[in-house]
Amino acid sequence: MIARAQVAVPEYADEVVRGLTSAHKTLPCKLFYDDRGSAIFEEITRLPEYYPTRTELEILRDRSREIAQAVGSPVSVVELGAGTATKTGTLLSAFTQRQMRLKYFPVDISPAALDDAKRRIKQECPLAVVKPVVADFAYGFSFLRDIPNRKVILYLGSSIGNFDWSDATTMLRNVREQLSSGDALLLGTDMVKGAEFLVPAYDDSRGITSEFNKNILVRLNREFGGDFNLSAFRHIAEWSPSRSRMEIFLESLRTQSVSLKSLGLTIRFANGERIHTENSYKYTTEMVEQMLCVSGFKLERSWFDRRRWFGLHLARA
Ligand code: AVI
Repeated sequence: MIARAQVAVPEYADEVVRGLTSAHKTLPCKLFYDDRGSAIFEEITRLPEYYPTRTELEILRDRSREIAQAVGSPVSVVELGAGTATKTGTLLSAFTQRQMRLKYFPVDISPAALDDAKRRIKQECPLAVVKPVVADFAYGFSFLRDIPNRKVILYLGSSIGNFDWSDATTMLRNVREQLSSGDALLLGTDMVKGAEFLVPAYDDSRGITSEFNKNILVRLNREFGGDFNLSAFRHIAEWSPSRSRMEIFLESLRTQSVSLKSLGLTIRFANGERIHTENSYKYTTEMVEQMLCVSGFKLERSWFDRRRWFGLHLARA
């Protein structure tokens, strides 16, 4: 535990200190998503190189009726990490064709995003009754117990890919524990593909992903009195076939010291030394099946786009 002096520091201070003082420097990728980082991520989803969002939307547009039919009814639809629910309208409309007065529970940590989600879904799918839930998954999934009917849990966008295997399966198992047998999970995963498609998706020609990655340093400067010089680091995105993941780093362009005043910390960087800021796992169907199985779900059916770049998987508790 670090000394906090008189300054109030955010709760993730310990993680930052641990990450930056370890032999292989790391920072938690959740730090990307302050207001600016969330806005930059929205921009990433519209980049020509960043295929996942557009590909998942294509599957939802083309296959929502089949998905709704396979899930069965009646259900309450619960979307984990719903944000502003930009992808969910088509799927909910398919459900409302089978079930009047469908209940939709978007769950997110941000009340502002949930207000937007409610407004959007009211417009796109007027038959759905929207009941936002503000929750931080760090505190578990007990809120699922208060949701009536048979449930289908949506976890879209391949956010699962930003967790290591053990964290991903722990999270899915924690969700499973709150469900009854027969409840369903619809999980989005980005699939393994050639490095020639993966690397540009995480290192785009306009440098937006670089800005997203460096925003973590902007945040440390603001929240911990840091003096990171952004131009002294470069964004790196590498495909690791053995780990089946994209690995994202910030690499120091020279020998330098950086201080985080409110943490009383000075960090030394060698020339070329990296901070590992994110992993983004890419899956095979076997990996998906295994991940679901060890978490207490049974994979029933998957839907893919025509290139099989992205998958939506229906699993049963
Ligand atoms: C949010 N998550 C699924 C994104 C991904 O593709 O892993 C985050 C991201 N990082 C860089 N670009 C996009």
